Amino acid sequence: MTHSSSTQGIPHAAAVPRHIAMIMDGNGRWANKRFLPRVAGHVKGVETVRDVVEACAARGVEYLTLFAFSSENWRRPADEVSFLMKLFVSALEREVAKMHVNGIRLKIVGDMSRFDAKLQKMIAAAERKTEGNSRLTLTICANYGGRWDVLQATGKMIAANPGVTEFTEEMLAPHLSMAYAPEPDLFIRTGGEQRASNFLLWQMAYSELYFSDTFWPDFDAAALDLAIASYQQRERRFGRTSAQVVERKKAS
Ligand code: IPE
Ligand code: IPE
Ligand code: MG
Repeated sequence: MTHSSSTQGIPHAAAVPRHIAMIMDGNGRWANKRFLPRVAGHVKGVETVRDVVEACAARGVEYLTLFAFSSENWRRPADEVSFLMKLFVSALEREVAKMHVNGIRLKIVGDMSRFDAKLQKMIAAAERKTEGNSRLTLTICANYGGRWDVLQATGKMIAANPGVTEFTEEMLAPHLSMAYAPEPDLFIRTGGEQRASNFLLWQMAYSELYFSDTFWPDFDAAALDLAIASYQQRERRFGRTSAQVVERKKAS
């Protein structure tokens, strides 16, 4: 099943968000503060991923999407990039079996063509192994960019509709790399910056935004609960008036 758009219906805001998308930011500053090399922050950040995945599953979140490496992160010093690639491989080696036992379905989304053949194989194998799991779908965005996603979807949409010159949002959406998931209800960025950094641009049109000053390695279940509590205070209107939203809630 594909979820072309969540902006027509009104999800129950009081409920736990079905889909949380996060920019895991602040690893380098976490390490600097402790006079450690930046990469020490990335190592600690992997532990946070493990804890946050479990906390989300325990709270009934169905989809968790984590931005691990952006298409712009190749601009970092070569030694940091190569450390991050190795960390990605070792995290897959260590975590996939555990995730499988815990009912996690793993998806890796982004332009895989820039990864070496070994990593591409590991990714495909991990996805295949966990594809039948349904407790939580964890998506790792790696070499991902929101603009890349819209562009690759546009290419596929045109190829799927030969001769067609007018297109709709509904025709594009199934070709986006996360067409298997509803759009994010809640977007969280840790580390204090308040920007999108080319994350899920199309899919975040109506996500509720939440910014935390906590560096990613320090983010935990309590910090997650603060974000969810903030989400539960919001009124999601999707363009309508507040009175209309109240009316529709009564009717449903
Ligand atoms: C996020 O932390 C992890 C990646 C982008 C891979 P950073 O490495 O961006 O940490 P800061 O922002 O420099 O503190
Ligand atoms: C965004 O963080 C990408 C990831 C967390 C993977 P960055 O740290 O790369 O973002 P900018 O460069 O500060 O915008
Ligand atoms: Mg950063």
